[in-house]
Amino acid sequence: MIGALASLPSVPFAPDPTPVEEMTRLRAAIGGGPRLLVKRDDAIAFAFGGNKVRKMRLVAADALRSGADTLITCGGVQSNHARVTASAAAKLGLRSVLVANGVAPERPTANALLDRLVGAEVRYVPTREARAIEMERAATDVRRSGGRPYVIPLGASTPLGAAAFALAVVELLAQIDPPDVIVHSTSSGGTQAGLVAGCALAGVKTRVIGISADESSASLTAEIRAIIGGLAALAGVPPETFASADVTVDDRFVGEGYGIPTDASRHAIDLVARTEALFLDPTYTAKAMAGLIDLVQARAFAPDQTVLFWHTGGQVGLFA
Ligand SMILES: Cc1ncc(COP(=O)(O)O)c(C=O)c1O
Repeated sequence: MIGALASLPSVPFAPDPTPVEEMTRLRAAIGGGPRLLVKRDDAIAFAFGGNKVRKMRLVAADALRSGADTLITCGGVQSNHARVTASAAAKLGLRSVLVANGVAPERPTANALLDRLVGAEVRYVPTREARAIEMERAATDVRRSGGRPYVIPLGASTPLGAAAFALAVVELLAQIDPPDVIVHSTSSGGTQAGLVAGCALAGVKTRVIGISADESSASLTAEIRAIIGGLAALAGVPPETFASADVTVDDRFVGEGYGIPTDASRHAIDLVARTEALFLDPTYTAKAMAGLIDLVQARAFAPDQTVLFWHTGGQVGLFA
C-alpha cells in the first residue's frame, strides 16, 4: 500500500516503533470527550528525538548515497531540525554547517548547546530570508576546500523527508486501529504532508489536523499540497491519488507569532506535565496541544471517537 516508499534507504538512528499511550488523566482534566492517545515521537532514542529524526533517517541515507561529507541546513538558533542534522552528521562521521537566523548566544543553551557539543559550525544571519543564500555560500566553501556538501532545506520538508511520515503511518497502523483524528504541530509542512499521504495510501479515513506554529492556514496548506505532489512521484503513484485528500491547517493558536507563548500554550505545558508527565515545547507542541484542548472542549469530536496527539518532540526547547 505504501508503494516504493517502503524500499527507500534509511539510516537506523533509533529503533522503532515509538510507543502509543493513553492520556486518561488529561482527558479527565479537560472535561472528558473523545479517547485521547499520544504517539511518543518525543521518545525517539536519538539526539533527544522528535519528528526530525524520522525525516533524517531518509535524508541522511540520501546524503550518504551522494557521497557527501558535510550536511548543511538552516533554522532558528533553537531549531530542533538543526540539532538533529548536526547530531546525525556527528554519528555518521560527517561535518555539519548550520545557518541560524539570530544572534550568537553568549552562553548557548538547549538546542544551541547541543549543536556545539556535537561539533557543528554555526553561521549566524540576521533574517530568515538570508538563510538560503548563506547555505549556498557554505556549500560553495565546502566545495572549494575539496569537500562534498549536501544541503537540507528548512525542516527537511522535502518529499523525501515527508516520506518518513507516510512510513510512520504504517508504523502506527501496526500498533492500533486507525484513529479518527490525528492532531499535531505543523510548521514547514513535511510532517503533515507525510501523514496525509500515508493515510491516503493506507486507505484509512483518519482526519489529520495540523496546528500551525507560525504560518497562515492558506500559505501552509499550499506548501503541504506541493510536498504531497512530490511524494506521489517518489511513491510511484499518480498525483491524482492524493487529489481528494483533505489538508487541514488550523492557524488560530499561533498567537503573536512563532515561538511567542500564549496563555493557552503555557496552560497546555503545565496541564500535560501535571496529568501525564509529558513535556511539550513552547514553540511547536504546546500550541498544538492548546489546539487539541480547545477542539475537545468545543466538542469538535464525538465522545466515541479516538483522537491521537502526535507528539513531535522539541522538549529540549524547554531549557532555552
Ligand atoms: C518539535 C517540532 N514539532 C513540529 C514541527 C513541525 O514539523 P514540520 O516542519 O514538518 O511541519 C517541528 C519543526 O519545525 C518541530 O521541531
